[in-house]
Amino acid sequence: MRILITGARGLVGYHIAAAASPSMTLFLTSRGEDPNLGYPYLAADLTQRAEVERLLRWAEPDVVIHSAAMTLVDACQENPELCWLHNVTATRYLVETLAELRPKAQFVLVSTDFVYDGFPALQRPYVEGDYEAPISVYGASKLAAEAWVRTYPGCWAIARTALVYGWAPTAPRDNILLRVLNQLKAGRTIALFTDQVRTPTWAADLATGLLLLATEQAQGIYHLAGPTLETPCSLGQKAAAAWGLPVEKIQPLTREEFVQPAPRPPYSPLSIEKARALGYNPHTPEEAFAQIRLHL
Ligand SMILES: NC(=O)c1ccc[n+]([C@@H]2O[C@H](COP(=O)([O-])OP(=O)(O)OC[C@H]3O[C@@H](n4cnc5c(N)ncnc54)[C@H](OP(=O)(O)O)[C@@H]3O)[C@@H](O)[C@H]2O)c1
Repeated sequence: MRILITGARGLVGYHIAAAASPSMTLFLTSRGEDPNLGYPYLAADLTQRAEVERLLRWAEPDVVIHSAAMTLVDACQENPELCWLHNVTATRYLVETLAELRPKAQFVLVSTDFVYDGFPALQRPYVEGDYEAPISVYGASKLAAEAWVRTYPGCWAIARTALVYGWAPTAPRDNILLRVLNQLKAGRTIALFTDQVRTPTWAADLATGLLLLATEQAQGIYHLAGPTLETPCSLGQKAAAAWGLPVEKIQPLTREEFVQPAPRPPYSPLSIEKARALGYNPHTPEEAFAQIRLHL
């Protein structure tokens, strides 16, 4: 099975390459330099249709896992046009070109819990099929990208994930876990929200889930998230405990105290029962941290 991974230099891309089995032939792409993950790599800007075509002719994929995106939620809010270009137009070009060149290939999009508003009528985790109503530019752009994926005439899957954490030597930016560890190891305090409920996801679990969608040729929407409900604050406290760092240096924060440029869903946990039925079995934060500690 030939699998093209976009966003290969990102946190998720790194873990997909690490989780691939010998029966999979991976082809990697991002914009920057080859991250040297042991697979063929071609740099491409997905906002350029000609580069997308060159990429698909090069990889001849049976599956495309589209992980590349403009992922900084506040930057998206401040620059909606750029966000739309990277998240929506790039997805559109990939979908349309794949349909033309490799119509039997599967298309898998990595999406987000931010397609939901986070004000569920019932205080229960979202299930696939629940009503989407993004409240940020980033969330809207990912939902629009999903809409393009749904037009793909072949097999497609949309994997919604949440608050991804982990470690990768090649990732271009930090994540909640690295922010907590960096601050506490430097002896500083860190303020973390107590009024944003999520299902944080270890990037390695997400990668395994994405490859499962590929091997199972899954069709439709799947939630690939972690198994526990956390706030950024409770997750940070668990990380501090796992690394033996001072938990009291984590200060609780609410959205009244600190207004972020992009509004965040207050309550967006994802139910993972549908993915579990397929064989997805993610780790708790404590289990994941025990493995990440081998690197950090
Ligand atoms: N991180 C989270 O908490 C979270 C939560 C929910 C969903 N997601 C989704 O998960 C996916 C992966 O996230 P991540 O954390 O791994 O992201 P990341 O670390 O920010 O990496 C994003 C990657 O996308 C590539 N990229 C961006 N624009 C591109 C373009 N126009 N053409 C080609 N490549 C482009 C970047 O390439 P270069 O490095 O070469 O510039 C980078 O490698 C995204 O789709 C995101 O929306 C993430």
